[in-house]
Amino acid sequence: MAEKKLAGQSALVTGASSGIGEGVALALGEAGANVIVNYNSNPDSANAVVEKIKAFGSKAIAIQADVSKEESVQSMFKQTIKEFGTIDILVNNAGLQKDAKFDEMTLAQWQTVIDINLTGQFLCAREAIREFLRRGPVPERSLATGKIICMSSVHELIPWAGHVNYASSKGAIKMLMQSLAQEYGDRKIRVNSICPGAIQTPINRAAWETPQALNSLMTLIPYNRIGQPSDIGRLAVFLASDDSDYITGTSIFIDGGMTVFEGFATGG
Ligand code: BGC
Repeated sequence: MAEKKLAGQSALVTGASSGIGEGVALALGEAGANVIVNYNSNPDSANAVVEKIKAFGSKAIAIQADVSKEESVQSMFKQTIKEFGTIDILVNNAGLQKDAKFDEMTLAQWQTVIDINLTGQFLCAREAIREFLRRGPVPERSLATGKIICMSSVHELIPWAGHVNYASSKGAIKMLMQSLAQEYGDRKIRVNSICPGAIQTPINRAAWETPQALNSLMTLIPYNRIGQPSDIGRLAVFLASDDSDYITGTSIFIDGGMTVFEGFATGG
């Protein structure tokens, strides 16, 4: 049985009904955290994640909320605190892509990505920090008063033609995360980002679903395999636990080496 490093802690994972969010919610639940499985539009998938977490012996509840809407986020946090008493860990994961050539990108495509990927992280982080400050430290549960994990991307570093809205949102998350770590470090709130590379989820299905696509993806990944949501889940548990107590304000890349720029192995 996995070690219960997060026993007694409450975690909220946004966008947890599929993909990386699901992998993170499961890993936190397996590590002993009670988990709010936030979803926007797919209650069945969220409930399936809830059942898997319960099988680990942790509590789990699915809560619908659109992270880009202030009222929706506030009511999700109210419900979370009512159910679990408080929140110790926020994983700001919900995100999407609306890809288009820049000269053809509509304002709606730009705005939706910024609203969900960036404003959503602002709204959820603000509610979490308000609760951390209200509650104060509980040293027997965790050395930190609260932990926020922002799901960023290798594209906070790697520019991405055809995905300018998405790359812009991830670049901004880096400054959101670091500025929060700076502003609340003395209150013992830790804020870090996870920067995944290509993880096998619905968001990038086109990049792995045919052998040709997967082969071409491998030219970007020195470690020569696509990532899995469980890879991200293990890192999230580390960042949420006291094992990482001296880590704040940092982006951790988890990408099979994508950010060593494989194209330069023979060029340059
Ligand atoms: C994107 C994926 C992409 C990966 C590597 C992620 O942030 O959402 O679509 O495969 O970055 O480029």
